[in-house]
Amino acid sequence: MIFVTGGAGFIGANFVLDWLAAADEPVVNIDKLTYAGNLENLAGAQSDPRHIFVQADIGDGGQMAQLLAQHRPRAVLNFAAESHVDRSIHGPEDFIQTNVLGTFRLLEAVRGYWHTLEARAKADFRFLHVSTDEVYGTLAPSDPAFTEEHNYEPNSPYSASKAASDHLVRAWHHTYGLPVLTTNCSNNYGPLHFPEKLIPLMIVNALAGKPLPVYGDGQQVRDWLYVRDHCSAIRRVLEAGKTGETYNVGGWNEKANIDIVKTICALLDELRPRQDGKSYAEQISYVSDRPGHDRRYAIDARKLERELGWKPAETFETGIRKTVQWYLDNPQWVANVQSGAYREWVQKQYAQPEGQVAA
Ligand code: NAD
Ligand code: DAU
Repeated sequence: MIFVTGGAGFIGANFVLDWLAAADEPVVNIDKLTYAGNLENLAGAQSDPRHIFVQADIGDGGQMAQLLAQHRPRAVLNFAAESHVDRSIHGPEDFIQTNVLGTFRLLEAVRGYWHTLEARAKADFRFLHVSTDEVYGTLAPSDPAFTEEHNYEPNSPYSASKAASDHLVRAWHHTYGLPVLTTNCSNNYGPLHFPEKLIPLMIVNALAGKPLPVYGDGQQVRDWLYVRDHCSAIRRVLEAGKTGETYNVGGWNEKANIDIVKTICALLDELRPRQDGKSYAEQISYVSDRPGHDRRYAIDARKLERELGWKPAETFETGIRKTVQWYLDNPQWVANVQSGAYREWVQKQYAQPEGQVAA
């Protein structure tokens, strides 16, 4: 069996559901259920005996050690993290606690467990750490995409905390010989994406008749990957990746934020036209920029393709259409995640009329 941490969040839940569909191997899913963790994401696995959910904090080393001794997994995949850049700017503490200290405690529990394994199981064991392209910092428009050799230059509290966790994982390999793998992926999108992030926020705001808040000039570039392609890349790295190596994961889909927002508006105009006949693009509203906003990310994913034969299945055009359709088909999921805590966050982040500039 395998352990997945953070498996009630966006990518982790997609991973668990895809894993159970593709492999006949049980999963212990460990999640603290923060505001971003949602058991409804796992409804598809609810009655599956191969899925064991445990509410726990990766920072609780004692409980991690106990769960490892009890279930004896062949691999631990660490998705658990605080993941939203804007929240890290408002309050970095949780990011240090989970992303740095939590990863450290998890690594220590795993190291202790790994030492109890017999030679063959010890050699076959894997700790796969799910990380981000944001650790590499920002790119100018003409710079080549990030390769695995790019320097770490994180700029936000979130990316600095993820960079720190990557360094810990690397050190546990070099110092203790723990068989680790690290993946650094670009921006994901798809079903179950929490509507604090750009794409789902724009979809749910558009449908609710609210402004579509574009930071700064909207010309920041992100490299978008459909979430299930990220999941297939992780499965492939787990299966065939070389321990101690890092693998960049990306979709070769660089887009400016404003173009993403306009694409979403055009899809909604087609699939759920506004009653007044106007375009959703009329709701676009430029707001003050994110402090320290990275201008451009771009992932060079050639190593993963060359060495492990992985390629994304979706283009941006197919993936974004599926995503918009998923939000249209799942209004109850959206309503359920828009809890009081969600509303408080939206109020804190966006209710700054003096920061708004002309639409
Ligand atoms: P998410 O915020 O949607 O989910 C995170 C999950 O981790 C939640 O279920 C939450 O409850 C859980 N969690 C948080 N703290 C925990 C703790 N201390 N112990 C146990 N569980 C805890 O995040 P996501 O977008 O699904 O990202 C998953 C991972 O992938 C993160 O490590 C993130 O850095 C990385 N990543 C995300 C993206 C992206 O575009 N979303 C891209 C590249 C890498
Ligand atoms: O690159 C991978 C990273 O992608 C992951 O490691 C992070 O966990 C994930 O949150 C994501 O980070 P970003 O900051 O790139 O994603 P976000 O959806 O928050 O923002 C995408 C872009 O859209 C970014 O340039 C900021 C902008 N934006 C975002 C929001 C929420 C807006 O213009 N308006 C908004 O309201």
